[in-house]
Amino acid sequence: MRLVFLGPPGSGKGTQARMVGEKLGLPQISTGDILREAIARKTDLGEKAKPYMDVGELVLDEVVLPVVEKRIMEKDCMKGFILDGFPRTLGQAIGLEEVLQRLGCAVDAVIFIDVDDTVVVRRLSRRRVCPKCNAMYNLDTDPPKQEGLCDRCQVGLQLRSDDKPETIEARLLVYRKNTLPLVEYYESRGILKRIAGGGEIGKVFDSILGELSEARSS
Ligand code: AP5
Repeated sequence: MRLVFLGPPGSGKGTQARMVGEKLGLPQISTGDILREAIARKTDLGEKAKPYMDVGELVLDEVVLPVVEKRIMEKDCMKGFILDGFPRTLGQAIGLEEVLQRLGCAVDAVIFIDVDDTVVVRRLSRRRVCPKCNAMYNLDTDPPKQEGLCDRCQVGLQLRSDDKPETIEARLLVYRKNTLPLVEYYESRGILKRIAGGGEIGKVFDSILGELSEARSS
């Protein structure tokens, strides 16, 4: 299956894409993770992305699209993949459609995880990441065993640089303006699956699997 996970920042796209990917044996492709890694490595891609990511803006379509195009051509994506946080603009959605058409396939389902802004702000301000292994924690729902330290590396956990309150606000505005229109775009194609993302992680996961099994049998 070729899946897209769509939703506001903090809706749980990454958490759920990882779990669904493991369950279905599909690679999770997170453009956010790819870009953060490029920034950490100080590559050309990282230099192009950093000024936008620092302020919660979207990295340019012409920068992101070729990255995704190259990634989905890799061998592990032959039988399918989960795109987490891509597409995020109409331009990216059209670009993806063109790339997949050339490969003789299409997106099978779009999982739209919907949550309220208050939930987003709470979740993101409570998220902590390990700067060494990138493990993710949440002080409310998934805290580390020892306060402030990664369970695996014992390194001090950090707030993601774009999880500061003012940047969360900017990301929500950008989401509403650029990404929310994709809900209608995919709805009109009959492949959008709406998921209420405010519940517990396990319940959201079960809803997604339910929608996907329906999509597979139809
Ligand atoms: P990206 O990394 O994709 O960030 P985002 O979309 O803002 O999403 P987040 O990673 O913040 O949240 P999420 O929905 O994955 O939730 P998560 O599972 O982590 O992008 C970052 C930046 O990169 C963008 O702002 C942009 O600049 C750039 N970028 C990326 N892709 C781009 C593109 N295609 N085009 C242009 N620019 C691009 O969960 C969040 C927290 O909540 C965690 O702590 C988690 O444990 C917790 N949680 C999750 N689910 C639940 C639940 N059900 N209940 C309680 N807690 C939960």
